[in-house]
Amino acid sequence: MSVDETAANPAVHYDNVTDAWGYLLGDNLHYGYFDRGDESLPEATERLTRRMAEAAQPDSESLVLDVGCGTGEPARCLARWFGCRVTGISPSQVCIDRAAEASVGSGVEDLVNFELGDAMAMPYADASYDRVWVMESSHLMPDKSRLMSEAARLLKPGGRLVLCDIMLQQHLPLQEVIRYRDEFLLLHDVFGRARMETLDFYAGEAEANGLAVELREDISAATRPTFERWRRNAEANREEILSHLDEPDWNKFFSSCEVLEKFWDNGVLGYGLLAASRA
Ligand SMILES: C[S@@+](CC[C@H](N)C(=O)[O-])C[C@H]1O[C@@H](n2cnc3c(N)ncnc32)[C@H](O)[C@@H]1O
Repeated sequence: MSVDETAANPAVHYDNVTDAWGYLLGDNLHYGYFDRGDESLPEATERLTRRMAEAAQPDSESLVLDVGCGTGEPARCLARWFGCRVTGISPSQVCIDRAAEASVGSGVEDLVNFELGDAMAMPYADASYDRVWVMESSHLMPDKSRLMSEAARLLKPGGRLVLCDIMLQQHLPLQEVIRYRDEFLLLHDVFGRARMETLDFYAGEAEANGLAVELREDISAATRPTFERWRRNAEANREEILSHLDEPDWNKFFSSCEVLEKFWDNGVLGYGLLAASRA
């Protein structure tokens, strides 16, 4: 099955791409945060987790919900760094299986667990988590207002939501959407059905749900070197990737890095980080 046939369904999309993504993106299925620019991708992706963790400030007593956990590396980092307990959810069975497999022997397998779940329908009780962690998954959520109200509902008093993701830098006039139609279709094929929002939108939703925004940061410049690293990985790991993806999909991935770079540079898309707490 080609990626574009499955892109519309986030569970199926990630079932389809997760193994190839490991070769393209690494253990962390998210962008890198480059302080200098010459770091390796694994250093930079872990650094982004650090930036989120500095905003989240969990401790060994914290219960953390990782919404859209990928293959679990951010959850394992949090457990390793802070001794907190982390539950990760994803609608993709492949993500959950890979997360569980990678946790065996990690030293934190007793602190992390991974469950099939959808952020649009989370079965957890009100005020059951100290931290809600949303790392690069919100762009895939069809109803972002629901994500934000659910995150607020799940937080205990004093709890904190942290979110980072690709952001719309500006609302595009219709002519611009039409002008970039092919580029957006390519991104949809490669990364799944996504709809980006602005950082202001997420901050507004946090406030509308009774949270106090503590941090709102545009980190577009620090994430930009990611695309060049992804292209390098695509070329270096081409053989392995082609055992998980068709060649046209490899080509689309490569082109999508160029599209994203262009969107970063012309102020269409970027990357943002938000932290907000419940009183
Ligand atoms: C780009 S990956 C990020 C993974 C992980 N947070 C990381 O940083 O390594 C996006 C993740 O969001 C998950 N996802 C997509 N739609 C979701 C939904 N409705 N509810 C929960 N997770 C979702 C995907 O399955 C995938 O695991």
